[in-house]
Amino acid sequence: MRVFSGIQPSGIIHIGNYVGAIKNWVKIQDNYDSIFCIVDYHAITVSYDFKKMPETIFNTAAILLACGIDPDKAKLFIQSDVKEHTELAWILGTYTAYGDLTRMTQFKDKSKQHSDNINSGLFFYPVLMAADILLYKADIVPVGIDQVQHLELTREIARKFNSIVGQTFPEPKEMLSEVPKILGLDGEAKMSKSMNNYISLLESDKDLWDKLRGAKTDEQRIKRTDPGDPDKCNIFNIHKVFSKKDEIDMINIECRRAGIGCVDCKKILYENLLNFITPIREKVEYYKNKKDNVFDILKIGAQSCRKIASLTIEEVKSKMGLLLR
Ligand code: TRP
Repeated sequence: MRVFSGIQPSGIIHIGNYVGAIKNWVKIQDNYDSIFCIVDYHAITVSYDFKKMPETIFNTAAILLACGIDPDKAKLFIQSDVKEHTELAWILGTYTAYGDLTRMTQFKDKSKQHSDNINSGLFFYPVLMAADILLYKADIVPVGIDQVQHLELTREIARKFNSIVGQTFPEPKEMLSEVPKILGLDGEAKMSKSMNNYISLLESDKDLWDKLRGAKTDEQRIKRTDPGDPDKCNIFNIHKVFSKKDEIDMINIECRRAGIGCVDCKKILYENLLNFITPIREKVEYYKNKKDNVFDILKIGAQSCRKIASLTIEEVKSKMGLLLR
């Protein structure tokens, strides 16, 4: 079974990204033929800073490696290094209904967010994503719930292509990670860069504590002597992902009878997050001093992906009457 997934290069990768995607990838690579892609051609569908992009892409790769993506187990590469992605996207576009693209909720949302730059690439984004997946005939695609509609469209495109051109692509299934969504430090919105409510995987000790200190807890609990409700507390929710079982059990009991205050509860989380983040931060530093290592890994990843990708393009072009010999 082959797995494909993509992540947008981002200046900030936070613990929500880790729990929702990267952690899952690290597990998957042991059991599947895995291909992981840094999707720079998706990232350029919104305005961005040309000067910062190389560093952003590099950091994304370094963080993935630091989190445990292992180039001996999985292929890791940059989307634009394998030109077959855009080639197949163009072809698949001719099997994608215009009306289907107008129904994509991510396109509608991003059009609102970036109303100064509603470009055709943003509209075509789901077709490029379908091409990413189908190029490798992937069976399984780990994604967040917000990408399920794009997966449905990918299956629709595959079905249509198969029925008109001939059986070529398997219909890929999404694999949703089981972890609960991590809310941002505001305790309201999903953790995200744009909401500025995140804890970065590279957060400094001081920033980490400052952010936790200001984070929302159970709003009903005003004084230290008020009993709290862990089920209504986002800090407890994060504890459930990053703390040890006995700590979680203890907090669950003590919070309800005001046996522990929010500050002490946050201090425990601080220690645990710090223990989690510190080795990642150190490995990213290591890679920053050995950039060639990362470039080599990405280059080798692209080379082996190109081999698979060029076979698919050849098959597709041949079936479509586009290969003369
Ligand atoms: N659209 C995905 C996201 O924003 C990223 C992505 C691009 C992707 N191509 C993909 C994910 C292919 C899975 C498979 O999260």
